[in-house]
Amino acid sequence: MRSNLVAGNWKMCGDNASIEKLVANLKALLPAEPAVDIAVFPPSVYIARVVDGLAGSPVAVGAQNVCEQPNDGAYTGEVSAAMLVDTGCRYVIVGHSERRAMYGDSNERVAQKAKQALAQGLMPIICVGETEAQRDDGSTLEVIAEQLQAVFAVLSAEDMCSIVVAYEPVWAIGTGKTATPSQAQEVHAFIRALFAKKDEPLAKGLRILYGGSVKAANAGELFAQADIDGGLVGGASLDAQEFSAICRAAE
Ligand code: 13P
Repeated sequence: MRSNLVAGNWKMCGDNASIEKLVANLKALLPAEPAVDIAVFPPSVYIARVVDGLAGSPVAVGAQNVCEQPNDGAYTGEVSAAMLVDTGCRYVIVGHSERRAMYGDSNERVAQKAKQALAQGLMPIICVGETEAQRDDGSTLEVIAEQLQAVFAVLSAEDMCSIVVAYEPVWAIGTGKTATPSQAQEVHAFIRALFAKKDEPLAKGLRILYGGSVKAANAGELFAQADIDGGLVGGASLDAQEFSAICRAAE
């Protein structure tokens, strides 16, 4: 049985004061023993602080990005998977559409980042998704397949037992335009079928999250879909009340 996961991507938001408040509110509002996995992804400079703040709570911490290089060295501005583990991270988001669009994360680099994360014992959440133009011209499934092809080329079947995939239609991110449950389910089922071609049990156990304007008000119907195993939540994860309601909807 797959356990649902709700992941809160804080993106480049917050400061010491607001993050301290958010952590305190999350601890107060989230159940001590939730029936779903929960993780938050602070900006990297706040990770250590959030790990400390959430110690003893069931909420795991992850990073929003990782360097694809395996070893320490002359990579100014980058953070390695080993450093993230050392700081207390359990997950890392790779291939977010904002990084693909603005920071040159190609399909191949995203796959390398996932590989490095796995090599250090971090669970990568590999994001895929189409733009509005791609949806309009009917190439959604083709785009998703191409993004995942690069992952299949680099990860072993064993690696893929420790990944999470997040389907985030670019047109639904931060726009308030959520995919309908059936639009999302269609893509999630397609993703699972792609993995099933590699390995049936792997596909059955794979968690596929939906992301894109998830809120407490729409989480229930999205998470009720057969192939949606939780959410990758942006804006709503900065509000502890809203985020805990989304976590409850995933239970
Ligand atoms: P929003 O929930 O703000 O649309 O962002 C989704 C997202 O990009 C999560 O990674």
